[in-house]
Amino acid sequence: MSYENSRVSDVANILHARASSLVNKAEILKAVELKGLLAELPTLPVEQRASFGKDINHLKQELQNIVNESADTQERLATIDVTAPFDVNVNGHRPELLPSTGGSIHPLMTEMDAILDIFYRMGFNAVESRQIDDDYHMFESLNFPEGHPARDDYDTFMTTDGLIAPAHTSTMQNRVLKKYKENLEKNEPIAVVIPGRVFRNEDLDATHEHTFYQLEGVYVDKGVNAGHLIATLKTFLEEYYQQQLKVKTQPFYFPFTEPSFEFAISRPESLRKGTGTEDDDWLELLGCGMVHPNVLRMAGIDPEIYTGFAWGVGIDRLVLMKYGIEDIRHFESAKLDFLRQFA
Ligand code: DAH
Repeated sequence: MSYENSRVSDVANILHARASSLVNKAEILKAVELKGLLAELPTLPVEQRASFGKDINHLKQELQNIVNESADTQERLATIDVTAPFDVNVNGHRPELLPSTGGSIHPLMTEMDAILDIFYRMGFNAVESRQIDDDYHMFESLNFPEGHPARDDYDTFMTTDGLIAPAHTSTMQNRVLKKYKENLEKNEPIAVVIPGRVFRNEDLDATHEHTFYQLEGVYVDKGVNAGHLIATLKTFLEEYYQQQLKVKTQPFYFPFTEPSFEFAISRPESLRKGTGTEDDDWLELLGCGMVHPNVLRMAGIDPEIYTGFAWGVGIDRLVLMKYGIEDIRHFESAKLDFLRQFA
């Protein structure tokens, strides 16, 4: 409404503007300008006082309304459930969930299924890894004693009371070896693959993510050697990429294998898309080796009788190469335009 006195109208403009930027709206009721107006009242000629007083009262009421409305909003905000899957907070309006018909399986999961399928056909079974683990499985059981410098290569997230977001799926080796060691007594091998989500304290870039997927593999029997390891991985990779590949191993170090290898393939044309690399590049794909006798012993398996091989491969990496995806961060980004290409 308009004010009869321009003096009050000016103050009203100032106070409305100020109120809109205050977090605690109630402060506006204590504005010095308001007190100033009240102080002016007795100094005015008698005939102006009634209209001036009415304007002041009107302004006070306006400011009080602002304060009340803000309190209402605060109260409503306090009851909003920000975790609700849709807006349950809008009264009388029941919005819909995102239609599930537009959804699809995440490309990493589709590829994981395809990869597991190859190993099922090769006689492996699968055990899913866990997303929270402990020091024994992350390190001790894998032959990293306390204070071992190689622990630093697996810097990940942990709680102050010692729970660990596993940096690799190798944390499952001890459990799987124990669970399946009765196979050995029945003269059957232990042949298990372990898909899982893993976590690293990484500097993120196009090829490094803090969260990704690995597939671990363990195979134990009498007379197992590195030839079996190489043949198994080569067969798997050729099946996955549907082409012949040149492979090589080079010496490496992991505490839980002896000897340890890096396994590389010569990158064929079809797997070079967008990577800017030359044809004769060797591309390191995964870590592997012969299971360390201490790892077998810690699972109660006699390394004098049984030997085995193991590997761990990053699934994201395999999928990047298969489709020529230029940035690993797309996978966890929830970008629909990326994901829909795989629907
Ligand atoms: N856990 C290793 C990593 O994440 C990969 C690995 C290497 C797994 C050798 C194995 C292995 O099972 O034998 O870097």
